[in-house]
Amino acid sequence: MKLLVCGGAGFIGSNFARQRVERGDQVVVLDKLTYAGRRENLEGVDCELVVAGIEDAEAVRGALAGVDAVVNFAAETHVDRSIAQPDAFVQTHAVGTWVLLEAVREASVRYVQVSTDEVYGSIEEGTFTESSPLAPSSPYSATKAGADLLVSSYFHTYGTEALICRGSNNYGPFQYPEKLIPLMVLNALHGDALPVYGDGMQVRNWIYVEDFAAGIGHALEHGAPGEVYNVGGPDECPNMEVVGRILALTGRDESLIEHVTDRPGHDRRYSLSSEKVRALGWEPRVRFEEGLARTVDWYRENTAWWEPIRSGDYRAYYERHYGRALGG
Ligand SMILES: NC(=O)c1ccc[n+]([C@@H]2O[C@H](COP(=O)([O-])OP(=O)(O)OC[C@H]3O[C@@H](n4cnc5c(N)ncnc54)[C@H](O)[C@@H]3O)[C@@H](O)[C@H]2O)c1
Repeated sequence: MKLLVCGGAGFIGSNFARQRVERGDQVVVLDKLTYAGRRENLEGVDCELVVAGIEDAEAVRGALAGVDAVVNFAAETHVDRSIAQPDAFVQTHAVGTWVLLEAVREASVRYVQVSTDEVYGSIEEGTFTESSPLAPSSPYSATKAGADLLVSSYFHTYGTEALICRGSNNYGPFQYPEKLIPLMVLNALHGDALPVYGDGMQVRNWIYVEDFAAGIGHALEHGAPGEVYNVGGPDECPNMEVVGRILALTGRDESLIEHVTDRPGHDRRYSLSSEKVRALGWEPRVRFEEGLARTVDWYRENTAWWEPIRSGDYRAYYERHYGRALGG
């Protein structure tokens, strides 16, 4: 199969591209290379990289020539950044998704929109299914929900062969260190404070990135157009427990933990039922304990990947956001 992978130079997209190339697919990546998109993420992956935004109709049309399907990972993905500066989120999720859908409609190819459990909002008890109402609470999740609705409308209105995968919290190699797990791992390795939002009892459903990538590939091949598939991980865990496990894996103690002012509107708990995609034959393979140990090892061993990030713009972002310095 020949695939156009939009946002394929980011965390999940690059893991997906690597997996598909290993399976024998031909992959073209289209990526704007924002701060989160890096050529390094695709090192050793035999694919073509087109540097452009998904909102660039001409570049999209060119990249789409001859492909069998499009998988869209391209997004602004950090909730904190969406609170400070929502404009890029609206541009990429609304306008960018629309441009892709128009191109896909013209080319009559299959389309998978990669979305998030955050579109359902927070749930105290129980678990979200694909028919749960959308109740996003941040500019990030609201614009992702808007993109999902646009995707569904193209199926209903034009018969576009489009489907949606909503993932839970991913972790694993190549994740930009502003996100909880790599942030805590790198800070712990450096002996820096671990900034925990509020009481740290926010619960997330964690999925190892290779499992999520495989779930998207599975829905791409076996899913039905017009359908939504939740692709969640096998384990739920409060942030404080995640941090505790990271401290243990890095040989640090709790004195590094620093509670900081909670994120405005911070969702307490996400929980996904993935029965529908499991019924298609997919299941996650990596439990949290194993995946987290692998992730810590990866960051420990790949200093050349994160050193330029920690010494570049990220350092200024971090210091502005948390009001404290990063160690060397
Ligand atoms: N990380 C998670 O835990 C998680 C969970 C569920 C769903 N998702 C979804 O998965 C997708 C990928 O997330 P990620 O964590 O890999 O994000 P990421 O921030 O690591 O990567 C996003 C990629 O998209 C690219 N990009 C951004 N705007 C673009 C544009 N306008 N045109 C082209 N490329 C653009 C960036 O350069 C980057 O390579 C997103 O759609 C996200 O909403 C992520």
